[in-house]
Amino acid sequence: MLDIKKVQAGLDSSAPEFTCIYYPSLESTNTTAWELYTKSKSTGIVVVTDDQQSGRGRSSNKWYSQPEKSLTFSVLFTPEIKADQAGLLPLAAGIAIVRTLAKLNIKVRLKWPNDILLGGKKLGGILCESRVLLDWISAVVLGIGLNINDEIEIYPAAIKTAVTSLKKESNREFDRERILVTILNELIVLIRYIESRNYQEIQTQWLRQGMYLGSIVSMDTANGTIVGKFQGINQHGEALVENQGLISSINSAEMRAFRET
Ligand code: BTN
Repeated sequence: MLDIKKVQAGLDSSAPEFTCIYYPSLESTNTTAWELYTKSKSTGIVVVTDDQQSGRGRSSNKWYSQPEKSLTFSVLFTPEIKADQAGLLPLAAGIAIVRTLAKLNIKVRLKWPNDILLGGKKLGGILCESRVLLDWISAVVLGIGLNINDEIEIYPAAIKTAVTSLKKESNREFDRERILVTILNELIVLIRYIESRNYQEIQTQWLRQGMYLGSIVSMDTANGTIVGKFQGINQHGEALVENQGLISSINSAEMRAFRET
């Protein structure tokens, strides 16, 4: 069982606004976080569970996790960020994860907008949901799922070849509390960059770890598919894809790479 007191005690004193709430089991940490917000306008809350039964992924996908092996949590907060910068939040969460795992000598890469990949397989994902009032974000739930000590063999056949866990890649168990604390401490610093309008810092850090930069990619958007060269991200966190000298800024899509340059 995850030791939530250890997590709470490990938070930097510069991040006192996070209060961790542990649930042995729930449907989805994102859903519970929104319930807390709706009921009591709670903010600065980290909802953590050891057994997420109906994890939600992007594009209405299901998110699988193994009880007491994965990390599944959601951070509910009310940042002072304009709505058109919301796309930087999942990128910041990805950077926080990269920085955390680098401290354990594990190098992961980020696939726009928010996949965490290790050795070309999916190690984690981020589901960022925001509510907006008069052009400003009124509340955000940043949900993170990371495969830590998971035995990937137990996952459904359709996904187990595409995903991995830290344990599978390195044949040892990891301290989930330590990883969670470090992600939260890193995240708060990155959110402050966005609040202070230092968007460049997020862009620069993301581009260091971003996959497929300079590659030909196909972006499946709600309005069709765009193919072109992935040129990076702008200060809103949108992907920049160039085709015949024309650059499209894309805020939501599934990226596929034809070939990596
Ligand atoms: C994705 O890659 O599709 C995003 C997956 C996000 C999963 C996490 S697990 C914790 C939080 N609660 C949820 O229901 N989903 C997110």
